Formats: sequence, C-alpha cells, structure tokens
Amino acid sequence: MKNRIYFFTGTGNSLWMAQTIADELSDCEVLAVKNGMDTDIPAGLERVGIVYPTYGWASPLMVVDFFRKAKFPEQGDTYYFAVTTCGGLPINAIPQANVLLAERGIKLNYGASVKMFKNSVLSYNMSKQAVKIAEQSAKRAKPVIRDIVEKRGTAIKPINRFLLRLHLDFMKDIHDTDSGYIVGDECLNSIQTTKNNPRKHSVHAGLLALIKWKNFT
Ligand SMILES: Cc1cc2nc3c(=O)[nH]c(=O)nc-3n(C[C@H](O)[C@H](O)[C@H](O)COP(=O)(O)O)c2cc1C
Repeated sequence: MKNRIYFFTGTGNSLWMAQTIADELSDCEVLAVKNGMDTDIPAGLERVGIVYPTYGWASPLMVVDFFRKAKFPEQGDTYYFAVTTCGGLPINAIPQANVLLAERGIKLNYGASVKMFKNSVLSYNMSKQAVKIAEQSAKRAKPVIRDIVEKRGTAIKPINRFLLRLHLDFMKDIHDTDSGYIVGDECLNSIQTTKNNPRKHSVHAGLLALIKWKNFT
C-alpha cells in the first residue's frame, strides 16, 4: 500500500524532513503544497503525512488553505501524521492541524515538532553553527521517523486560543508586508558604506527586509 507526504517549505527544512521520512517508508510519494496543485487525496493509502514549518506559533496560511481545500477520502485505515519543523516554539502548529483535519472528518493520528535551523538568520551565527545544528536536527528527527514508520499515535494538545489570535493578527497582512518598501538613495548609501564588512552588510540587508520604509523619499 502506498504512502504520500505533502510538504510546504520556505527555506528547505521541511522538504528535508519530508524526504527523510519518505526514505524510511517503502513506496512513498512526496508532493509540494502549492497553488494550482491537485488536492485530491486517493483512498486506501497506508499513511498520509503533511510536513510544514511553524509560522507565528501556528501553521502557514498555505497549509491552512490546503487542509480546507483538500478532497479527503473516507479515512478507513489510513494513518494521518503532521510534522512541523521549527526554531523551538511550535505551540499551535500541530493542534491547529488537528482541529482543521477534524473539521474535515479526519483524525490526526500523530503530530510532532522537530527543531531545526531557524530561518531568522540574523538572530544567530548560522555559518559557525551549521554542522552542529544539522547533526542535532537529524538526531531529533530520528524518533519522529521511527514513530511514523511504526504508526504510533500521540495525544495532541488543544489550541492555545490567545496565541492563535496573535498569530492571526501576524498573518493577516503577511502577503502585503513588502508593499510599502521603498529603498531610497540614503538607504543605498548606507549599504554602500558597509559593503566591505560582510557581517554589517548582512545585518543591514536583514534590517531592510524587516523595516517597512513607508513614504521614504
Ligand atoms: C514568518 C516566520 C515565522 C516563524 N515563526 C516561528 C515560530 O513561531 N516558532 C518557531 O519555533 N519557529 C518559527 N519560525 C522558524 C521556522 O519555523 C523554522 O526555521 C522552520 O524550520 C523553517 O522551515 P522551512 O525551511 O521548511 O521553511 C518562523 C519562520 C518564519 C519565516
């Protein structure tokens, strides 16, 4: 019987996680969650998994959308699992999937988080810690993969409503957060002055990505 894993990724961690699980399952397809995808899930699969990053203590909008739009067959004996990769605070990312799947008549048998590379790359020295973090991530992934191979179940916590509200506030404008960016000469000049110092330069580039330069001329 076949297995299928859907993944959504921004920077590759969740793709790595999905592929690593798939490598341990015989006969497993790995499919991206993306616009225009086929949302029909065939009946009779042995396992259906979804792997995605935590965004703002919960699930990315693309994944929420997938849970709402996917055409789920009768669950039958299919084992459903969700794995979120995160920087350390997954909070609602699995409980939210549990609720959204329950609304579609599907029981989430297993949910887990795996701490990996934070993609807030300015908050730590990634280049110095890359090898160590990769090793730790692979170690943390192992028991999760074993659970999925053995089709173990987990109790999934209820949603933290307060943090979900903060998350929804954070997510509601996320698609338009770059709409007010204007990079003026003053800004480019200051990048120019830091370009020979890679660390300062990357901090600057990061700040550019974080600050909304509204009405800047
Ligand atoms: C917009 C955004 C919000 C994030 N929010 C959280 C969070 O609330 N908790 C957490 O532990 N990690 C958070 N992260 C870190 C990612 O979940 C983590 O780096 C993840 O492994 C990235 O997976 P990917 O490479 O598949 O995109 C966030 C990252 C982004 C880009």
